[in-house]
Amino acid sequence: MAIDYSEKIPNNVNLADDRRLQRALEHWQPGYLDWWNELGPEGFQAKDVYLRTAVNVGADGWAHFDHVKMPDYRWGIFLSEPKPEQTIGFGDEMGKPVWQEVPGEHRAALRRLIVTQGDTEPASVEQQRLLGLTCPSLYDLRNLFQVNVEEGRHLWAMVYLLHAHFGRDGREEAEELLYRHSGDPDNPRILGTFNEPIEDWLSFFMFTYFTDRDGKYQLKCLAESAFDPLARTCQFMLTEEAHHMFVGETGIGRIVERTVDVMKDLRTDDPETLRAAGVIDLPLLQRYVNFWFSSCLDLFGADQSSNAAGYFATGVKGRPDEAKFDDHDCSETIEVLEVPDGNGGVTTVEAPTRNAMNEITRNLYVGDCQRGVDRWNKTIQAAGFHFQITLPSARFRREIGSWGGVPTDLAGNIIAAEAYGGHLASSLPSDEDRAYVDSLMKPVTEPGKMAGWIAAPRRGIHGHPLDYEYVKLH
Ligand SMILES: [Fe+2]
Ligand SMILES: [Fe+2]
Repeated sequence: MAIDYSEKIPNNVNLADDRRLQRALEHWQPGYLDWWNELGPEGFQAKDVYLRTAVNVGADGWAHFDHVKMPDYRWGIFLSEPKPEQTIGFGDEMGKPVWQEVPGEHRAALRRLIVTQGDTEPASVEQQRLLGLTCPSLYDLRNLFQVNVEEGRHLWAMVYLLHAHFGRDGREEAEELLYRHSGDPDNPRILGTFNEPIEDWLSFFMFTYFTDRDGKYQLKCLAESAFDPLARTCQFMLTEEAHHMFVGETGIGRIVERTVDVMKDLRTDDPETLRAAGVIDLPLLQRYVNFWFSSCLDLFGADQSSNAAGYFATGVKGRPDEAKFDDHDCSETIEVLEVPDGNGGVTTVEAPTRNAMNEITRNLYVGDCQRGVDRWNKTIQAAGFHFQITLPSARFRREIGSWGGVPTDLAGNIIAAEAYGGHLASSLPSDEDRAYVDSLMKPVTEPGKMAGWIAAPRRGIHGHPLDYEYVKLH
């Protein structure tokens, strides 16, 4: 299913056969480009960036790499190949044919899910718009822009669904996606986390590791949807998302690597000494992990949720990699959840499995987050240090669900309300931490050079050496 690049809007959905839809999207396109130029990466719109562009949706060889100015990037509409005779894989409608159009009774739910997903995509571009100005290397600068243009394409993906399947409401929602802006007090992005600016590269790597991974799990659930165009859109988005995960995991990994190198050289783990040497001490890194991990957990929703049960029952939204589960009906089973007992202790409740879908997805996410942490810890161990990076308990700092507003320590033990403020202050990045990280954010733009707080990556991009001009600044 090759992508047609002769069209104004590159696509593999035969857009040319549907003149109305094509015109509607061509009408939306200039507003998108205005948005990109205004709120996309600041200071680099006229530079040539070595970007990959999707040319096919197959598992191998789907991308083409070349230098391109970001506003000329060929954003388009790419869905995974349809599978003939695809049937619904879970819930009450299991075994029936998937839907090619939105059933009236699921229209509101699907619209809400698509709009919420769509809103996060441009939000992240807005949050990261100033980061390029302090890049640690040209390699990282290019990776930032690759992530940004693909988040822009993910907006296209959701806008296509809105235009193609939701009529006039869909077109209005698509407009709104360009009018809401991250951090805008009058017109903010839908989810709270997506209104915080990302001003330093440590936060960027944390965002791509933890927050983008939340996105990956949401996409995995939607990739199972009985609404086939949504499922196939998300399946292709996931292939792009893999690179965003890579940027986060290797970014933090390279910071750890650089820090332990300096720790070995100086034979110390003293944060003051390490800061004087210009690297990010591991306790500071841990506080950033505590902050970003905990702020992502609420994005999955409450641990017991009748909405989630409804989505599963109707086929609107499944679990990540649904085929890997044994039971795809889940109407007869229960999950045992640990919840606060209201007296400072913990008890268990039995929830119908369908009501616990958010918690099931969140637990898979936590397991996926742990894998990278284990790899970072190996680097620390191999250098002969005992420090271990740990994920906080999923009860820590929650705002919704059974643990919402319950004061706990990092290990998830309930603590006295009076002790909570102090515990938070020592667990999360302090003003001093943030100021120190900020002081490191000096641009390094000579090909092949790296900022002093991050190790060089193992290899360059698409077979090029590390000192390749990934972004042409002159
Ligand atoms: Fe995305
Ligand atoms: Fe992403």
